[in-house]
Amino acid sequence: MERLDKLLSSTGRWSRREVKQLVKEGRVLADGVPAAGPEQKLDPERACVQVDGETVELREFTYVMLHKPAGVLSATEDARQRTVLDLLPPELRRRGLSPVGRLDKDSEGLLLLTNDGALAHRLLAPKRHVDKVYLIRTDRPLGPADAEAFASGMTLEDGTACLPAKLEPLGDGREALVTLHEGKFHQIKRMIAGRGASVCRLKRLSMGTLVLDKNLAPGEFRPLTGEEVSKIGGKP
Ligand code: URA
Repeated sequence: MERLDKLLSSTGRWSRREVKQLVKEGRVLADGVPAAGPEQKLDPERACVQVDGETVELREFTYVMLHKPAGVLSATEDARQRTVLDLLPPELRRRGLSPVGRLDKDSEGLLLLTNDGALAHRLLAPKRHVDKVYLIRTDRPLGPADAEAFASGMTLEDGTACLPAKLEPLGDGREALVTLHEGKFHQIKRMIAGRGASVCRLKRLSMGTLVLDKNLAPGEFRPLTGEEVSKIGGKP
């Protein structure tokens, strides 16, 4: 049995304070009757909770899509620097979320945060690494020779062999889409350095079926929809 305010705030849609207000205004129904209070205990597997007439899914796990801005660490805590967890409200921070994979501090874009450890493990397992697509900007235009080098599988300066990757130059070639099937440390920056260029900007657009929501500005987040959770293999 869990508290109503905990269950509703863990969806990421309301803070506990907002739940309290919603309950006070009689806008929350638990099994068809107005909730007695935010502390009311419910069985998340059985209870039917509605807010303003809409049935709310009470999920076991929390899945959050964050548009990571440049300048924050993909970590759960750090003594000195801001982390992606610092961008979330306290009710979500308390859910024990961790980023699934990392983006460099100066990288932006799609970051999935969840407390579904099994899913994170599956998404990151080298054997079934899901495709990740990035938009990059470079200091010189990239062209067909760079795309061929990516496609043939590059070897980095320290001898690390990379799987074949896709590089699609856009427009004048200073921007490109990169698709990776693995995730090595600073991989794109190192591959681009191997081509004698450097990355000025890097933004992740997608990870498997999960696509960065265009309505999310850098620093903004939203819970995944049930469909998104199912498609990436989580528990909706
Ligand atoms: N490759 C990089 O070099 N950096 C990232 O943040 C992601 C992929």
